[in-house]
Amino acid sequence: MLVAHALAQVRRALALPGVPQSGRLLELGCGDGCITVRLARELPFAVSGVDIVPLAVALAAQREGVELELRQGSVLALPWPDGHFDAVVDGNLLHCIVLGDRARCLAEAWRVLAPGGALIVMCLAGDPPPSAVFAFDPVTRCQIRDGVAGRHFATQESLLAELTAAGFEIAAHWLNPATHAEECDEMVVAARWASITQRDPSPLRPSSWNPCSPRISVTLSIGLSLVVFSPIPS
Ligand SMILES: C[S@@+](CC[C@H](N)C(=O)[O-])C[C@H]1O[C@@H](n2cnc3c(N)ncnc32)[C@H](O)[C@@H]1O
Repeated sequence: MLVAHALAQVRRALALPGVPQSGRLLELGCGDGCITVRLARELPFAVSGVDIVPLAVALAAQREGVELELRQGSVLALPWPDGHFDAVVDGNLLHCIVLGDRARCLAEAWRVLAPGGALIVMCLAGDPPPSAVFAFDPVTRCQIRDGVAGRHFATQESLLAELTAAGFEIAAHWLNPATHAEECDEMVVAARWASITQRDPSPLRPSSWNPCSPRISVTLSIGLSLVVFSPIPS
């Protein structure tokens, strides 16, 4: 059902005018390949997938009856050359990417797309479900556990702004409301590659340097709170 749902979202996005109908397609965060394999079977694209977890990529590679190009790697440094793909699909990955890494991930999606290519995003949107509210930081819109930022809950506006800032033109977007109280709404965005003359390089440093990286920013926030709330010695 979830895979069928994802596939229906991709089909709807690909049916939009000006979106490539064939060529090379990359799924970001392909996991064990459950969506990747269906994309390859049912769409007229040569399909690639990337995931950071070696076991997930190994499982995806065991799927039979279809040709997939699978690579283990990070969406923050995609192992493909510039302009290689006609379409990039966010396989429910973008909400796993937090803080400054989000701009880096979108910049990589933009880099590997050919001019005229399309990015299809499928991610959580809106406020977290009741069970996740306690760990939700409304400033970063991340769920923070043990000082580490996990899932990101974009708003519709923030997601569209992130995509536009990364060099995409929004072709269409729609919301799939949660069907269960413990779920979150899903936002789907179909965006077209647009040329950009200059990109702000500040969010694009390696995440280990990035002052916005999850652990560092949480540590900074705690440190700042201690400074602000410490009594002034008399
Ligand atoms: C929610 S799962 C989605 C898996 C699959 N697309 C699906 O829908 O069943 C998100 C996937 O993103 C992968 N992931 C998270 N961070 C990543 C990163 N920085 N680079 C590449 N993959 C990443 C995870 O390993 C996981 O397999």
